[in-house]
Amino acid sequence: MKICAIGAGYVGGPTMAKIAEKCPDIEVVVVDINEKRIAEWNTDHLPVFEPGLLEVVKAARGRNLHFSTEIESNLVDADIVFICVNTPTKTYGEGAGKAANVTYVENCSRLIARCAKDGAIIVEKSTVPVRTAETVKKILHHRAASRRFEVLSNPEFLAEGTAMSDLEHPNRVLIGGDTTPAGQAAIQAVVDVYARWIPRQNILTSNVWSSELSKLTANAFLAQRVSSINAISALCEKTGADVSEVSRAIGADERIGSRFLNASVGFGGSCFQKDILNLVYLCEAAGLPEVAEYWHQVVIMNDYQKRRFATHVVRTMFNTVAGKRLAIFGFAFKKDTNDTRESAAIYVCRDLLIERAHLVICDPQVEPETALQDLRACGAFDSGVDESNVTFNPDPYEATSGADAILVLTEWDVFRDLDYERIREQMRLPAFVFDGRNLLSGEQLTQLGYQYSSIGKNGAAAVDSSHAKED
Ligand code: NAD
Ligand code: UGA
Repeated sequence: MKICAIGAGYVGGPTMAKIAEKCPDIEVVVVDINEKRIAEWNTDHLPVFEPGLLEVVKAARGRNLHFSTEIESNLVDADIVFICVNTPTKTYGEGAGKAANVTYVENCSRLIARCAKDGAIIVEKSTVPVRTAETVKKILHHRAASRRFEVLSNPEFLAEGTAMSDLEHPNRVLIGGDTTPAGQAAIQAVVDVYARWIPRQNILTSNVWSSELSKLTANAFLAQRVSSINAISALCEKTGADVSEVSRAIGADERIGSRFLNASVGFGGSCFQKDILNLVYLCEAAGLPEVAEYWHQVVIMNDYQKRRFATHVVRTMFNTVAGKRLAIFGFAFKKDTNDTRESAAIYVCRDLLIERAHLVICDPQVEPETALQDLRACGAFDSGVDESNVTFNPDPYEATSGADAILVLTEWDVFRDLDYERIREQMRLPAFVFDGRNLLSGEQLTQLGYQYSSIGKNGAAAVDSSHAKED
């Protein structure tokens, strides 16, 4: 059997590496138009940083796992084709800012129609609007009428930073397809691949539309939990309640559950916002404005949380950060990834640059050029702010030398265990810590002489008390 995956990104690369690891008899080829990315997959400096990924790639690469830019020749003899391309938010025309841009999925369908063999199973792994499979089918039907294809939906639920363990032990794998005998046979063929290492009871099957919609719904529910606890964190800061205590108390209720209740500076990542906006657009297009508005509020609350954090920093630092040196601890959207897409850090840094702060960004994995591109793209330098106001230093001790404040924006473990006494001695006083991840011990830092504030805790209310009445 041969599997060909189109798209060697955060999903295509790790997912196919796992399949190759578990199915040594299946030839797995990951293709992409991005030559640089493919070249990197063929080195030990992979384009995607994920704990455990390099080991799996190294063991299978050259054996039954290949990365290639030769798309057409690899599609010709594939039995299963996974579409793993990006589906970003549309930036132009109808639905701009909300709808998913499915151009890349359509391009793949045309490629498949041109090259794939009769009987190939086509699997949507990308996150797509409901009924995208219909588009794929239509293109295949019109452009390759003499060949038969089954189109399935198999959305990916891995989270970055834990991708390899998520792929090893997924809560579930979902495969949607037609209820026809051919559709059911195609589902079974894909079930058989996953069943090599995943218990059958964890492999769910459904119709194709349910599968497509389940993916959007799962991300919407997860993001909704973060926005819900972040909304409560704002109230905690006004009332003296502690959001961690509230999370613990509500999470102990089995019906609510304890996971995904960490208040933060805001959720980021390439998918939560994009997928909710996609859902909002679908609801609007379906004539369901109340449903659309309900989900939209999850994104609105997240924007509020990011803005609120930056405003709090400025107000606490005597209403000005102009010319002040702020050490930014973490730029990735979460720990253990080099991915910065939609990271809360981008927007917090932008707001502080506009206030004329000088930023020193310290992140163990993010490339400086990536962070600069993100800041340029979100308009951080549009109001005459010079790019030299942003510097990079991967060493937290050097990054904090002469700094007025530390902002923890990503919960990297390395930031937890630093010598904060040594750091305070080299900072300008008063030394502020704004913990956007509730990562550090506020008690310990306060004892060391820091002005410490975090998300949704009394400490934040105390530091901000002089301004609370003005809000
Ligand atoms: P990505 O941008 O990292 O990778 C997509 C790749 O597809 C790129 O390398 C791009 O060059 C390639 N591509 C685009 N069009 C192509 C074409 N016509 N031919 C060949 N290659 C092409 O994206 P990603 O993060 O891997 O996400 C892919 C999909 O998976 C998205 O729909 C996303 O919503 C979904 N998803 C992502 C995650 C995640 O953690 N990143 C998790 C679950 C689902
Ligand atoms: C998320 C989902 O968890 C995956 O199931 C899904 O496959 C993926 O989106 C996708 O479709 O792309 P991911 O974005 O990689 O995965 O990472 P998460 O762990 O979900 O975190 C998302 C954001 O929420 C991060 O910025 C994280 O810091 C934040 N978060 C998460 C919180 O602020 N608090 C929490 O309690 C949990």
